[in-house]
Amino acid sequence: MISAKNIVELNEQFQKMEPKDILRQVLADIPGVTVSFSGAEDVALVVMAWKLKKDIKVFTLDTGRLHAETYRFIDKVRRDYQLDLDFLYPDATAIQKLTSSKGLFSFYEDGHEECCAIRKTEPLRRQLATVDAWISGQRKDQSPTRSDVPIAQLDTTFAAPGKTLLKFNPFANWRSKDVWDYIRMFDLPYNSLHDQGFVSIGCEPCTKPIGPNQHEREGRWWWEEATAKECGLHKINIIE
Ligand code: ADX
Ligand code: SF4
Repeated sequence: MISAKNIVELNEQFQKMEPKDILRQVLADIPGVTVSFSGAEDVALVVMAWKLKKDIKVFTLDTGRLHAETYRFIDKVRRDYQLDLDFLYPDATAIQKLTSSKGLFSFYEDGHEECCAIRKTEPLRRQLATVDAWISGQRKDQSPTRSDVPIAQLDTTFAAPGKTLLKFNPFANWRSKDVWDYIRMFDLPYNSLHDQGFVSIGCEPCTKPIGPNQHEREGRWWWEEATAKECGLHKINIIE
């Protein structure tokens, strides 16, 4: 049985298992677990979980700044799989204060932290206060900040005071190719931006296509250092 106490042993055990088997165990032991969906290639994670549990809870952080293609894609996946998908929103007062004082593109001037904190981190914190565990599609090969991502961990960044929160990254050891093999093998729908040179996809103003031999992370917050490229959702990767 999965618990905070055996998370280290569990992580070791999961290293030898395929994502599908990891998900099966997590879903069986923690029925209220929720999956985070960014609208990119993590569609593979959502569909894999959905195949195991049709009423799996999924959420998307709607920052208000995603590409039109991403909005269309997320809603297509929601409809195609009849997903129980929640859209999470930033606090209106906080976002109004930011944009009224600094405009819509302040992140190019003073970094992405402030905007990401309002549009992503705070809504995520609100959501995670309501669950015991969440699942993300992050992988070791996605970024230098993710090279040690475990499959099972305690999420000390987002645990509400006095509560324990577990985080699972079933794709941690998969490479981009493994995810895309899965998408192609099962003919899954995918975000049309991937056909236009986008690999890692986030908000529209902070994402660009990459060229040959560029790392996928070079298309995200490209004006910042590679080691700073976490928006706060996975801050535990930087602080641990
Ligand atoms: S990010 O932190 O840099 O934006 P990335 O785009 O690599 O994250 O995605 C890694 C995982 O974080 C996704 O597979 C997903 O689980 C989660 N995630 C990222 N963005 C969102 C979002 N907008 N809504 C929900 N989950 C997200
Ligand atoms: Fe704001 Fe860019 Fe962060 Fe999106 S990725 S929340 S637009 S700074």
